[in-house]
Amino acid sequence: MPVKQLLIFDSGVGGLSIFQEVIKQSSNVNCYYLSDNAYFPYGELDENQLIERLIMLLTEFVKKHPVDIIIIACNSASTVALTSLRASFSMPVVGVVPAIKPASLKTKNGVIGLVATPATIHRDYTKQLVKQFAADKSVLNIGSTALVKLAEDKLQGKTVDKQKLKAIFQPWLSREIRPDTLVLGCTHFPLLKKEISDCFENRVALVDSGEAIAKRVALLLKDEKLESDKVQYPVSYDAFYTLRDEEQCLLERAFINMSFDSFSLFSIKK
Ligand code: DGL
Repeated sequence: MPVKQLLIFDSGVGGLSIFQEVIKQSSNVNCYYLSDNAYFPYGELDENQLIERLIMLLTEFVKKHPVDIIIIACNSASTVALTSLRASFSMPVVGVVPAIKPASLKTKNGVIGLVATPATIHRDYTKQLVKQFAADKSVLNIGSTALVKLAEDKLQGKTVDKQKLKAIFQPWLSREIRPDTLVLGCTHFPLLKKEISDCFENRVALVDSGEAIAKRVALLLKDEKLESDKVQYPVSYDAFYTLRDEEQCLLERAFINMSFDSFSLFSIKK
């Protein structure tokens, strides 16, 4: 059976939290990781601009680097663009959306905290998930780009500013009844699991979508209909970014530490 080729896509390093889960469950796959850092942060982009950018960038990428499955490892992108992306590509497109349902099953005090990008918090898709799976719960929201940046900082080797982290969660920390379960509705946030948990004195359950996405991908990979153009051993992991800047250079080490073989610029003509 040929080695399958995946594309894991995010605006920045958040998709690495998904990458880690995917390779845990599917060790025999090649992965491309594409970070659209030229348009980071996605959580503040206009919806139409985002959809247009995603279709253009991913079309160009898979033309050059054919893949069997595309994983949109970004809640901000998936909650607005999944339908358009599925209509644009012939291979399966797997999206990451906030894990409201598992959180709703897990909470004991009935108070769930959804922390995501400002865009994900405001999406109809997210509101629908809350209505469908947590209508009988109290769901509190925090939309934060600052938290996304703290995760990027961490992977660039900078110290995570605990005061900044505390300030972000202050509205929940100061409540009489705090949420006992947090939905990490942005793929950057599982990279800060330890810091977030510390912030709540470890008295909170953190729920994200990584494991469920990895399970879905593993299932799709079993489908014999998936054929790859590219057959190669051993397995390789190759990362691409869309803008070369100082921050991106600092990230190279994080990618190498996660077993990536290469880290290079992917540019498209406008
Ligand atoms: N990692 C992304 C997400 O899951 C978004 C971060 C950003 O704002 O670019 O929403």
